[in-house]
Amino acid sequence: MYTSVADQTTDQLGGPLSVLVRQKRDHVKLDALMEQLRGTTGEEQAAVLLRIYRLVFPHAFAEESVLWPVMRRVLPDGGDLTLEVEREHQEVNELVRRLEGLDDGSPERADVLGRLTEVLDDDVRDEEDALFPRLQARVSRRELQVLGVLWEVVRRIAPTRAHPVVARRPPGNVVAALPLSVLDRLRDVVDRGVLTAPNAITPALHHASSALARASHAVELLPIMRSGEDPSTRYIAGRPPFPWAAVALAASAVALLGAGAVRAARRAG
Ligand SMILES: [Fe+2]
Ligand SMILES: [Fe+2]
Repeated sequence: MYTSVADQTTDQLGGPLSVLVRQKRDHVKLDALMEQLRGTTGEEQAAVLLRIYRLVFPHAFAEESVLWPVMRRVLPDGGDLTLEVEREHQEVNELVRRLEGLDDGSPERADVLGRLTEVLDDDVRDEEDALFPRLQARVSRRELQVLGVLWEVVRRIAPTRAHPVVARRPPGNVVAALPLSVLDRLRDVVDRGVLTAPNAITPALHHASSALARASHAVELLPIMRSGEDPSTRYIAGRPPFPWAAVALAASAVALLGAGAVRAARRAG
């Protein structure tokens, strides 16, 4: 029998550097944010959701690119175990993408939000109760610490928004990381501005945020971003024709804005 990560001390999990300690810490933060989300509407809800995206998407991206390949290597049933959580991650990406198109107060929005918190809860339980204890039994304390440092580095530079079209596995998600991370982090800065800026400039900021969202959706559609994915996590709903012009525009935007976006995101913490 395995002991859930939730029921182990920092030392049992491999010490402060261990990937299991870092995972547990983020899961506790997510729990608190989901509690805050309950009963919110309008700008208050938008602010909490922004914090949830900023926590969840880089966290999951780093799992998919650093941890699940190790799970597949060291566990005989690692393929099945990781596919299950990749499907949960894919559903989270698709739900958030749907949420972005739903008006505040629309009846569908409450359902999508309810399902989103349910899948996030399931994902945490699957990882803490099943996946991570199995990983812990297969790798050394030292390896858990090395994985912790690697996972943290990737988490800090990963995309921060939903990208359901991109593969949940390397190499597709790794290739997608740089352009999407720059566009996402720039959009985070703009969206935080929407919540705090004077009313006179919020329409312009909304416009800028939508343009950045369209640019990142266009980048997602490059065929290489889907390489390596399992067919069961493939996003097909409502796929538009391939927008080459938008991709060219997005690439130029990344080139022009990259340095400034990273600086701004660092300043914003
Ligand atoms: Fe996790
Ligand atoms: Fe996860």
